Amino acid sequence: MQVADETVVTVPSTGAGRPGDPCVMVIFGASGDLTKRKLIPALYNLAKDNLLSKEFAVVGIARNEMSSEQFQDMIGKEIGDFATTKVDPDLWHWFARRIYYISGDFDDPKVYQELDQLLTQVDKDHGTRGNYFYYLATSPSFFSVVVKQLGAAGLVNEDRGWRRVIIEKPFGRDYDSARALNKEIRQVLDEKQIYRIDHYLGKETVQNILVFRFSNGIFEPIWNRRYIDHIQITVAETVGVEQRGMYYDKAGTLRDMVPNHIFQLISLTAMEPPVSFDADVVRDEQAKILKALTPMTDEEVLTRTVRGQYGEGLVKGAKIAPYRSEPMVAPDSRTETFVAMKLFIDNWRWADVPFYLRTGKSLPKRATEISIQFKRAPFMLFRRTAVDRLEPNRLVLHLQPDEGISLSFGAKIPGPVVQIGGVNMNFNYGDYFNATPQTGYERLLYDCMLGDATLFQRSDMVEAAWHVVAPILDVWEALPPRRFPNYGAGTWGPPEAEELLSKDRRHWSLCE
Ligand code: BG6
Repeated sequence: MQVADETVVTVPSTGAGRPGDPCVMVIFGASGDLTKRKLIPALYNLAKDNLLSKEFAVVGIARNEMSSEQFQDMIGKEIGDFATTKVDPDLWHWFARRIYYISGDFDDPKVYQELDQLLTQVDKDHGTRGNYFYYLATSPSFFSVVVKQLGAAGLVNEDRGWRRVIIEKPFGRDYDSARALNKEIRQVLDEKQIYRIDHYLGKETVQNILVFRFSNGIFEPIWNRRYIDHIQITVAETVGVEQRGMYYDKAGTLRDMVPNHIFQLISLTAMEPPVSFDADVVRDEQAKILKALTPMTDEEVLTRTVRGQYGEGLVKGAKIAPYRSEPMVAPDSRTETFVAMKLFIDNWRWADVPFYLRTGKSLPKRATEISIQFKRAPFMLFRRTAVDRLEPNRLVLHLQPDEGISLSFGAKIPGPVVQIGGVNMNFNYGDYFNATPQTGYERLLYDCMLGDATLFQRSDMVEAAWHVVAPILDVWEALPPRRFPNYGAGTWGPPEAEELLSKDRRHWSLCE
């Protein structure tokens, strides 16, 4: 199947297909996983698609002692493993010649002097015009250290080109620390220089939520409390914590997934139509939703949230050890690896419509989806029929790994007796679009090179999200879980997750 050419329209955003501005990307934490798995392959894809300026360079900074040549060699070997498409040797050669490396500690002012000199040289050699963006792929404890050092070295002054800073998640570990971090970095940077990244917004299917909702006339009129019974968001992962125990055991699933990725999905699903694609116009609408999410009382935390930790079990036939025996995890850890909760948005569109969320590690299948369940029809016509056995209409946005949209409804089963059966109408991206695989970071890096912050978090959004999560963190900390582990790896979390819905006479729509 193909999309007819005459139906393709381009949305004029800032870039609309031109290459990014001439610039240098400086990666702090360049020897880490993110650089080799995502950032370099994403830059390579941008170069391949002619979206990277010919006047471009990369400077990596990390503690490991290495020369620029050694760094180029290392990255050159890794790109073969992590590129999403076959690497073209000529293009890679062009790219590799503009990679530099500085070794040192992030709190050492000498590193920034060296960086300053190198950037001046790179500007001369590659025509990058004093435009720099700094990507903080470091441990969060360095975020404000690096920003302060950049400020002290004069590297964020915009007299001679633009200067931007991309900050990875987690942005704070609770409301107070997120506010403090915002305050610290705002002493050095203007809000418009700060790009708080959430990689979920780089996903095609997540961006499609807006296009689906607002480029089609038929959904918006029914996208509200009059027609929608409830919404479910599931982000299920089969992986456990793997080598990330040191981070994860301190963070837990709530911090790791909810105020960032899942709240992004909620805000895009629930926001009002923005009047333009301007960064602040879109983000104002998202922020309104985050601010309208009602924080729970202590009592509500007890009845409307569920936490779990996996014990041993089988995921896709493979034996999985309990979370507590993972490397760098405390043997009596009380950290959750599963969360489910019911939230409400206190505004005219969504009052009384529950949003059920669940996410966890070591679940039976990898699937991210948003399921919008509509109210049942008044079934007078079928009054002697067991219509309550019929599933209500459900529109499901499948975000990953199978990307698509499906709509379920009732249809008459052919034959002389009137019988109703549930059927599905399915759209799969793969059937229509032949997109080359991407890392998910391309769009975000490209937007940063063009100064378009639409897909990045503003400080008020981050704080609003932590404000909702804060009471849950407080109650959970005050009341340690009684029986962890409480779900087997390879199951859909503890039984309480099912009860969260069954006590409202509903059930999770995605199961094996
Ligand atoms: C990260 C979390 O931000 O997102 C991980 O720290 C999680 O724990 C990951 O596995 C999920 O991302 P994706 O793109 O695989 O859905």
